[in-house]
Amino acid sequence: MAQKRKIAREIVDVVEGDYRETLQKARHFQVVLTHLQYEGKASWGRNIQRARELSRFLSQEVNGHMGEEERTVFPFLQSHIPKLESLISLLCLEHQDFKKNLISFQSLLETLAKKRSGARGRLMGKLKEKGMYLIYLLQGHLLEESGILYKVAERELRRDEKRELIRRIRVTKHPSEIKIKRRYAKK
Ligand SMILES: [Fe+2]
Ligand SMILES: [Fe+2]
Repeated sequence: MAQKRKIAREIVDVVEGDYRETLQKARHFQVVLTHLQYEGKASWGRNIQRARELSRFLSQEVNGHMGEEERTVFPFLQSHIPKLESLISLLCLEHQDFKKNLISFQSLLETLAKKRSGARGRLMGKLKEKGMYLIYLLQGHLLEESGILYKVAERELRRDEKRELIRRIRVTKHPSEIKIKRRYAKK
């Protein structure tokens, strides 16, 4: 019975495992934004640096994951389960929305980093708003994938197809490594 249950949740387990770190970083990101807004001058530089590091993680790892998903996972799912088409289109729109808002968050962060302490108020509010939007967008998105998309795949795919899907999901996990491999393969 335990074995059967394990097999039945194979795909969702892999995905949830992969998303754990990202969700943890998203929660940390929320904390850093609050610190940036309310902690005083003494911690300003450190908090700006943390916000930079987290937004770099989001742009390298999360954006990279999303790009690989569009290249490797979604076309496979769409060809095997055609009814997932509209959900996949929505997820791709969310990817674009995430990328676009992350770029404007990063440029806002750099503008804010240069401001004197007396002139940060309005911009800080805007940055927090954009950061929170990114966090909620990401949390909701990962939940739609693990709780709907991959659950449907778990139910509908044949065993060999599931194995192939898991192989493709693994490719999306370390997108920065894949980029390096591709760069070397071209030479
Ligand atoms: Fe996605
Ligand atoms: Fe994903």
